[in-house]
Amino acid sequence: MDKIIIHGGRKLRGKLNISGSKNAALPILIATLLTNEDCEVKNVPSLADIDTTIALLKHINKNVERHGSKIRISSNAHLKHTAPYELVKKMRASVLVMGPILARLGEVSVSLPGGCAIGARPIDIHLDGFEKLGANISLRGGYIQVKAEKLKGARIVFKYPSVGATENLLLASVLARGKTIIDNAAREPEIVDLARVLIKMGAKIRGAGSKKIVVEGVKKLNGFAHEIIPDRIETATYLIAGAITKGNVVLKKAEGNLLKAVIRKLRESGMKIIVNNNTINAVYTKTLKPVNIKTGVYPRFPTDVQAQWMALMSVTKGKSIIEETVFESRFSHVGELQRLGANIELKGNRALIKGVERLSGAPIMISDLRAGAALVLAALVAGGKKTTISRVYHLDRGYEHLEVKLRELGAKIRRIK
Ligand code: UD1
Repeated sequence: MDKIIIHGGRKLRGKLNISGSKNAALPILIATLLTNEDCEVKNVPSLADIDTTIALLKHINKNVERHGSKIRISSNAHLKHTAPYELVKKMRASVLVMGPILARLGEVSVSLPGGCAIGARPIDIHLDGFEKLGANISLRGGYIQVKAEKLKGARIVFKYPSVGATENLLLASVLARGKTIIDNAAREPEIVDLARVLIKMGAKIRGAGSKKIVVEGVKKLNGFAHEIIPDRIETATYLIAGAITKGNVVLKKAEGNLLKAVIRKLRESGMKIIVNNNTINAVYTKTLKPVNIKTGVYPRFPTDVQAQWMALMSVTKGKSIIEETVFESRFSHVGELQRLGANIELKGNRALIKGVERLSGAPIMISDLRAGAALVLAALVAGGKKTTISRVYHLDRGYEHLEVKLRELGAKIRRIK
């Protein structure tokens, strides 16, 4: 397994291009299951989760050709209706094939995703939604089977605005008979991007990006060409890299409007953030202040940036509190940050952080994707010995060319095989 070695202490300076959004690309690639026509998706990052999605589409019987960040998808045969355990266990978002396959074939069988490093993460909201559209659900041999001869539009009220459930129900209801209303829907920018694609395909959708999405089912959908939005979580991670190393980074092909909550908190802490057309510049000009955050659904502070914020607060003089409200146990980075010398106390879903003068390098291990980003950020400022980070495969799920990009900004980082 690969490892990353970082010699901390360098200020990051320079420019880099932000990649396309992983979390927007996944459901959009899966939306190609809704049509037999050719589709083209641009600005797709090169990531392990994208490889898994391509493997999934091929398993279901799609032709997939990849040319750099452009992916072309066409159909050659009948779709299969299963998503096997080997793929679903690699990536929970595989469950998003349920919606489109159910809508097209009337049945789908997907391995139950099971537990994961950031909490139980059930899919009950997805399944309740399918039932409202008239589907029957059963569990056999670890597989969830969903059947419905023809989906019928309905009013669905989510008990929580789940991102995945909103996407899955959108992907199903566009081909259902009649009108579907998704109430208490998630409002994340990735949902808006998916809706844009579905509308290009001929779907009738109103309200994506608001709490109430209205879908009028159509009989058939067509192909599309689409360019994925910039990755707001990658953007936030590099802005924090600029802050933690007291540097000056310019992020190109980025979209400041998608991460207002993070930019607000960085400014509150004392960073100078300049947002221009497709470019964000983060400049360290003065000692940073501790700033509390509480994660929440969009447009509140994203849970996917909580760990990175904790790395920053670990070396920001003074006390801060981080409250996690989206996932029940998303603090697996705490123990490893402590190994680097961070002073963090956990109390339920809150972390109390006392910023320390300096962290010191040590061997550490990644337990999930964003925890990994936090550890890399901390390692960038750890003094003394180098930091060796293992289980890098978690990072490869969500950060395109991470060490190449950080090296471009002047970090001393390398990967060993
Ligand atoms: C997506 C993102 C992930 C991000 C998360 C929250 C993708 C591929 N992943 O994950 O990076 O951290 O949104 O912004 O886009 N829940 C249930 N029942 C369900 C579904 C969810 O109880 O049926 C709970 C989850 O356990 C969690 C919360 O709702 O506590 C949020 O989950 P959800 O919004 O569904 O996140 P994902 O779509 O899995």
